[in-house]
Amino acid sequence: MDWLATIGVAFWAMLPAYVPNNAAVLAGGGRPIDGGRTWHGARLLGDGKTWRGTAVGSTAGFLLAWLLNVLQPGASGALGVPFPVFPLVATVTLPVGAMLGDILASFVKRRSGRERGASFPGLDQLDFVVVALVLTALAAWPWFGETYTLPVLVAVLVMTPLLHVGTNVVAYALGLKNEPW
Ligand code: CTP
Ligand code: MG
Repeated sequence: MDWLATIGVAFWAMLPAYVPNNAAVLAGGGRPIDGGRTWHGARLLGDGKTWRGTAVGSTAGFLLAWLLNVLQPGASGALGVPFPVFPLVATVTLPVGAMLGDILASFVKRRSGRERGASFPGLDQLDFVVVALVLTALAAWPWFGETYTLPVLVAVLVMTPLLHVGTNVVAYALGLKNEPW
């Protein structure tokens, strides 16, 4: 595969993990997951992690994975790029892992004294990808190994922070997000 095809495969293979965070931003609000509970004087997760955002985000990623599966033969044929087909487990673990990673990051941020919305460079950009990939590797081996080859993983790790920063700046500019990270 040439490098452009590798980037295309990486993007396709990560879309079900990319979309949940953005969908959660659009859908967020309502009851926080931690119900307002605190631990050692700080919120467990904070008001930025809600049931509705998590449910809508996970569902959006799940539906997108199925849409991509429908589009896969046409797209692969037209572009000559071997886009992956997501097995059932991966259509769940990619979006749910992404949401879990984001929730875990908020837990870590609250423990380190950061208020809701504070930035944590590195963690903010990669939390969701790492948990989505680890969960998928555990649940969908050997598909994971065949799909996320070393070049694809490198592309994911380079591309994700750039996309994350880019989409958040756009969401901030549109007034959808309170901070540009
Ligand atoms: N959101 C949500 N549920 C989630 C994730 C996100 O409702 N599981 C919504 C919230 O409205 C949140 C917004 O998406 O404010 C932006 O998400 P994020 O940047 O992850 O949250 P922050 O508000 O910045 O809070 P934190 O510091 O905990 O990341
Ligand atoms: Mg944030």
